[in-house]
Amino acid sequence: MNVRSTFIILAAGEGKRMKSKYSKVVQKVMGKPMILYIIDEIEKNFENAAVVVVVGNKKEDVYKVLEGRNVKFAYQEKQLGTAHAVMCALDQVPDSTEDVFVLYGDAPFIKADTLKRLSQKRIKENAALCLLTAIFDNPYGYGRIIADENGNVLKIVEERDATYQEKKIKEINPGFYCFEKQELVNVLGRINNNNSQNEYYLTDAIEILNRDGKKIVKVTAEDNFEVMGINSRYELFVAEQELKLRINKDHLSNGVQIIDIYNTYIHPDVQIGRDTVIYPGTFILGKTSIGEDCVIGPQTYIVDSKVGNSCHIQFSVIESSKIKDNVKIGPYAHLRPNSHLEEGVKIGNFVEIKNSKLGKNTKSAHLTYIGDADIGENVNLGCGTIFVNYDGYKKHRTVVENNAFIGCNSNLVAPVKIGENAYIAAGSTITEDVPANALAIARQRQTNKEGWVLKRKQMYENR
Ligand code: UD1
Ligand code: MG
Repeated sequence: MNVRSTFIILAAGEGKRMKSKYSKVVQKVMGKPMILYIIDEIEKNFENAAVVVVVGNKKEDVYKVLEGRNVKFAYQEKQLGTAHAVMCALDQVPDSTEDVFVLYGDAPFIKADTLKRLSQKRIKENAALCLLTAIFDNPYGYGRIIADENGNVLKIVEERDATYQEKKIKEINPGFYCFEKQELVNVLGRINNNNSQNEYYLTDAIEILNRDGKKIVKVTAEDNFEVMGINSRYELFVAEQELKLRINKDHLSNGVQIIDIYNTYIHPDVQIGRDTVIYPGTFILGKTSIGEDCVIGPQTYIVDSKVGNSCHIQFSVIESSKIKDNVKIGPYAHLRPNSHLEEGVKIGNFVEIKNSKLGKNTKSAHLTYIGDADIGENVNLGCGTIFVNYDGYKKHRTVVENNAFIGCNSNLVAPVKIGENAYIAAGSTITEDVPANALAIARQRQTNKEGWVLKRKQMYENR
């Protein structure tokens, strides 16, 4: 592959301010590890690009979330600074690269369009470097852009090394750079660590390039959220709140009605069809898709599932399941992984389903456990039906064929098969197969003892 752009993503730092035992760049924002936002954005929008992730501290965490992704890794044994980290990645940068983008793994929301603007401007102006800057009302913590009266960037001063006057500057370095490859290689070796932290700062490249008479240009960010860095739990909270609102507003503009955008949590990779209405307290997570004209919530939790059109789901939990059109679920139902509900199925109060398939128009309206079952169409599961799927050692499957009717409070002890159209009398414990069209009664016959109550009463009263 003829690689034009290489992205070096720095992710070796300790992330001290996060106070976590895990790497900062794998902390989740709306359910998705920070670093994956950048990787996905690059993958979707740049062809012929290579990605090198610099790891060091807690590197196993980073390997794990990037497993199977098309990235290379560079190892920085000691965290000697951002310039040193980039140097560790250089031998993985393909020769054909023209643009080397350097990004930090703790700034997840950058958009490809902004990165493309950096490259376009760098090439148009024949510059060694195009960097992104941003204007922050509160610039605390960020490197400040020192520019001349014409706006030319002269150098970047880190917060710790800034003078009182420099600290007042509101134009900051959010940490997104597009270097011409050879210029980057040349400058890196000349950066020293004479600063308050004794670190090799990548930001010192700017002053050195200037001294050499090289051209540096900048692009100013239009949206400060895009360039936000996340260093602490509080910043993670702020980022998550803002992202949540942005995701919800996108759904509104695509025709989804969200009743309360502040109290609805929809992960970034979720898809929802138009005219679906979402009530508050609802979480739609992971890789979920929901069709059109559904009513979801209030208080519903759906993760990694596929829901068809015109479904109603309220006060329920749904995990890794598939639901076809016109299905009604809840209140208070729980679909555990691998539950498949065909069209028109109804699941009501306090019903739990696991690893089972329910055919078209099958109903289970109350107080039922369905585990490891293959259930046909138009089956009625009476209140309190239990699929007894576990014998203490192994799980077994139950088959219920089309149009069967399971009376209330029945136990179906697996493995067992209920034939087509069969009836199970209420209160039965079924341990043997029931043929099609049969009625199975598996309980004690009723006996009435006439006058028993009166006799007993007399017995006690005569004592
Ligand atoms: C850095 C910039 C600062 C900028 C800010 C934006 C430098 C010297 N400073 O400061 O100008 O305003 O980002 O958020 O570049 N890392 C390594 N190896 C190291 C050191 C850091 O891989 O030896 C990684 C970290 O994991 C992190 C990124 O580089 O993902 C930035 O490091 P961090 O310590 O967060 O730098 P800031 O102090 O935020
Ligand atoms: Mg940082």
